Formats: sequence, C-alpha cells, structure tokens
Amino acid sequence: MNTINPELVESCWSKVKHNQGEDAYSIIFYKSMFEQNPNIKPLFSSDIETQRIKLLNTLNLVINSIRHLEELKESLLELGKLHKEIGVNASMYDIVISNAVTALKVASNNTTTQEEEKAWEQAFRAISDMMLEAY
Ligand code: HEM
Repeated sequence: MNTINPELVESCWSKVKHNQGEDAYSIIFYKSMFEQNPNIKPLFSSDIETQRIKLLNTLNLVINSIRHLEELKESLLELGKLHKEIGVNASMYDIVISNAVTALKVASNNTTTQEEEKAWEQAFRAISDMMLEAY
C-alpha cells in the first residue's frame, strides 16, 4: 500500500509556488518529458498551453484532496479511461512520475529534501495507480 505523507506533499508544492511558481513547474514538466521521450510528443494533439493548464488544475485538485484521495477515485478512473483511449500505455506512467520529480526539483530551485521528493513521487504513484485501474 502506498502511504502518502500529506505534509511533505504540501511543503513541496509550497516550495514550487515560492520559487519558480506552478506555471514554471508545468512548463518544465513537459519540456523535460518531450526532450527525454520524443516518442511521446505525437500523442498530444491539443496545444501544450491548454494541456498544461488542465494538468495544473488536476494537480491542485489532487493536492487539495491529498488527505482523502479516495474521494477522487471516480474522476481519476475516468481520467485513466481517457488516457487508455488515446493510446497512453501503462509503462508510460513511470516516465510521468520521474518527470514530476525532476520538475519539482527545478521549479523549487533545488530546495526540496529527499524525503519531500519521495513523498511527491509517492503521490504521483498513487494518482497513477488509480488511473491504471481503468486499464
Ligand atoms: C499522474 C498521471 C497523469 C495525470 C495526473 C494526467 C493528467 C492529464 C489531464 C488532466 C489531461 C486532460 C484531460 C482532458 O482533456 O480532460 C491529460 C491528457 C493527456 N495526457 Fe495525461 N496525465 C497523467 C499521465 C499521463 C501519461 C503517463 C501520459 C503519457 C505520456 C499522458 C499523456 C496525455 C495525453 C496525450 C493527453 C491528451 C492531450 C491532448 O488533448 O492532446 N498523461 N492528462
């Protein structure tokens, strides 16, 4: 079972907001993901500006609900279904999780601790696990 430390997840997001900000977080996230995995880019049909705003909305929703994530189970399952339909395969989730941590370090100006990075990774793992239940 994946146990998330809510305080550490919140402190990560707060460090992002007080350093480069959440817009920078999402820009870094896609930039590093596409640089390292050019094969993924063609899956994205809408413009990245729209996409990164959707990602940020979901991320904020998840962080606000981090103490009772099961309440988001239905919507994350729907999100998982959508991803399956557009051709995102299960192995791609590891790429997203790893990029989520990279973007965290950069957008917080490397102020996050290893424990915080671990908590961030676990939060993304928990979200991914809920989405993957649709597969
Ligand atoms: C933690 C896991 C993930 C989260 C929170 C997430 C979040 C989202 C959100 C909120 C959307 C917008 C859905 C909508 O239009 O209503 C989206 C779309 C999308 N996601 Fe993800 N995603 C995740 C994993 C992945 C993975 C592993 C991939 C594969 C590389 C991926 C690729 C895409 C693509 C291609 C779209 C559609 C973009 C378009 O409209 O062109 N996502 N994602």
